[in-house]
Amino acid sequence: MKLAGKKILVTGGAGFIGSHLVDALAPTNEVTVVDNLSSGIPDNFGHHLGRGTIRFVQADIRDPKRMGELVRGNQVIFHLAAQGLRLSLFNPQEVHEVNATGTLNLCMAAQEAGVERFVYVSSSEAYGTAKTVPMGEDHPLAPTTPYGASKLAGEAYARSYYLAFGLPVVIVRPFNTYGPREHLEGVYGEVIPRFVLRVMNDLPPIVFGDGQQTRDFTEVRDIVRGILLSSECETLIGETVNIAAGREVSINEVAQIILTSLGWDGELVPLHMEPRPGDVRRHYADISKARQVLNFEPEVGITEGVQHYIDWAKEQNWDLRRLQQQERIINWRP
Ligand SMILES: NC(=O)c1ccc[n+]([C@@H]2O[C@H](COP(=O)([O-])OP(=O)(O)OC[C@H]3O[C@@H](n4cnc5c(N)ncnc54)[C@H](O)[C@@H]3O)[C@@H](O)[C@H]2O)c1
Repeated sequence: MKLAGKKILVTGGAGFIGSHLVDALAPTNEVTVVDNLSSGIPDNFGHHLGRGTIRFVQADIRDPKRMGELVRGNQVIFHLAAQGLRLSLFNPQEVHEVNATGTLNLCMAAQEAGVERFVYVSSSEAYGTAKTVPMGEDHPLAPTTPYGASKLAGEAYARSYYLAFGLPVVIVRPFNTYGPREHLEGVYGEVIPRFVLRVMNDLPPIVFGDGQQTRDFTEVRDIVRGILLSSECETLIGETVNIAAGREVSINEVAQIILTSLGWDGELVPLHMEPRPGDVRRHYADISKARQVLNFEPEVGITEGVQHYIDWAKEQNWDLRRLQQQERIINWRP
């Protein structure tokens, strides 16, 4: 299946990854963005409005009737709307309702509408911490947080709709994604933006735990390319694929890359605090399936990607002090 010319619905299209996906689809597709703006922001897609190909609908994926109406008439669904990991540590029920029940709602709507492809954007958090590395798609699924469990439940619904009803589902598991528009605020704030903001304010990065925990940090342009390639691939119908850089980087290394990129040479050292509950110890993806079936190759290295994020952050003319004052330093332990 070729995506060009298809009518596409993107849930979570006002969010970080979703808005980059919308940017990539806009030149060739009519796209409906569905988002309740709980963490997404209109600025992320505002540059498309008025150009005729992007329509924005503020709606909640927990409303099955509304999802039925909105999905009808579309050929491809990219389902990214979700609530995040840190929220799941103190409000697991809401995260379950959005990530699990919301995904079931989308599956029902997609089946009813007879879509040509349903792409469920899952997460490496569905694996939990690595038992063996690199982690292939057949690695055990043992999430360590309610968020990971809810993403896995979403996968199970999507897969069951393929097995029971033949819904053409593709499940993509991105690993930790970073880049422009990534959240830095409150409960949604991610590690790279938080470190960058603190160092731009001449403050040390705050690391939860010993910082030796690792992630397979992947730049958002690589993630979006992987999601698009997966959606077009017939071999992946009913299948799951990892999209990642295929390289393990510790939180301490990330802190050091950011400090160096912002011109600090040893005078500022990370502060360590209590580990976060359920923090995955090790993530390192095996991307040989993506290489084989999609010809996917990550293109952005961590140092280059972090520099790209810093350049973007500098262009935003943020009020750095005001943003920094909003930081709440908690490790989300209930
Ligand atoms: N960022 C990462 O590192 C990462 C890694 C792996 C997988 N993912 C997955 O990718 C997807 C996008 O993640 P992101 O980082 O862009 O997050 P994000 O928070 O920026 O985007 C999620 C979007 O969903 C919207 N949303 C939340 N609840 C909703 C609801 N009930 N109804 C409608 N819209 C709702 C939010 O407003 C937001 O715009 C998620 O499914 C996430 O699980 C993210």
